[in-house]
Amino acid sequence: MAMVCLSDFEAYAKKYLPKIAWDFFAAGADDCSTRDENILAYSRIRFRPRMLRDVSMMDIRTKLLGTEISFPVGIAPTGFHQLAWPDGEKSTARAAEAMNTCYIASTYSTCTLEEISAAAPGGLRWFQLYIHRNRAVSQQLVQRAEALGFQGLVLTADLPYTGKRRDDVRNGFRLPPHMKLKNLEGAFEVCKMSLLDPSVTWNDIYWLRSLTHLPIIIKGILTKEDAELAVRHGVQGIIVSNHGGRQLDGGPATIDALVEVAEAVQGRVEVYLDGGIRKGSDVLKALALGAKCVFIGRPALWGLAYKGEEGLQEVLRILQDEFRLSMALAGCASVSEIGPHLVQFSKL
Ligand code: FNR
Repeated sequence: MAMVCLSDFEAYAKKYLPKIAWDFFAAGADDCSTRDENILAYSRIRFRPRMLRDVSMMDIRTKLLGTEISFPVGIAPTGFHQLAWPDGEKSTARAAEAMNTCYIASTYSTCTLEEISAAAPGGLRWFQLYIHRNRAVSQQLVQRAEALGFQGLVLTADLPYTGKRRDDVRNGFRLPPHMKLKNLEGAFEVCKMSLLDPSVTWNDIYWLRSLTHLPIIIKGILTKEDAELAVRHGVQGIIVSNHGGRQLDGGPATIDALVEVAEAVQGRVEVYLDGGIRKGSDVLKALALGAKCVFIGRPALWGLAYKGEEGLQEVLRILQDEFRLSMALAGCASVSEIGPHLVQFSKL
């Protein structure tokens, strides 16, 4: 089967993954309206392409907090990669390293942070944290990640409780017994999401700051008010995200929320986005509307399900080629030329 675009990997994953794993990856909250809106919103945005601008030499590299990556697409944190491929997060880390981009490893990885960093020692890795009620567990994870050379700490802010994903409830989803949340082993029994701390507030950013020298990136911001608070609390980056539509159903598509967040931030910290990125032209739209970089969640899992690290590399390569082509057809030879002038976007 020729894999031409990301939907081909989606179709493959749907066909070959066990239903319970496919359902878990695909799930959105409630009616899945926000999950689906993440994708639909891109189709409402149109380009204003420019012509005759010498696109014979293309430069699609960018920097994430000062570190160069090969193109502005990284891998969002998602849990349980062994559900997609036996080597799990080790394969993800290798693929990201091979493509010279950033991999955000989830607290809920099925490989340890040590295994992940050993699999791709030269790769750019950030660690995603859920704060647990037992703060000592979270503190230890942050400090382990820093000692292992992870270069950023991503605090996920949109999961005080897990959203209601109907298929997971129907399927009685839980990890198969041979898979473990390895980073939390010994801390408590796996899959007890209720051990997440729902009392987390902005003040906990100061607590995290006291634990680590790593830059802190906050994930799950959707409004200008929270963007302003994030900047005031000293974070270095913001990921505009609705958790792939898995938390509050009825929230905005991330590409729509990006505009108000980028306007509020005014370049004081880096702004990124995830949710619904399925084509190179989606990446171009997000950059035009103020994102420095975007991250993919489900498409990375589809790539893993197809062929492990090779499959994920293929997903990234296709997105890279599509992004380069979209840039060229819009008249941009380097990412520095991408800006709001590239899209027809009446304020939503
Ligand atoms: C997620 N996401 C997520 N986010 C996070 O901060 N920690 C996590 O462990 C997970 N786990 C997770 C599992 C699965 C199966 C999915 C689909 C998503 C959310 C993820 O980081 C990201 O926000 C979305 O996946 C982006 O949307 P797309 O690219 O999947 O449309």
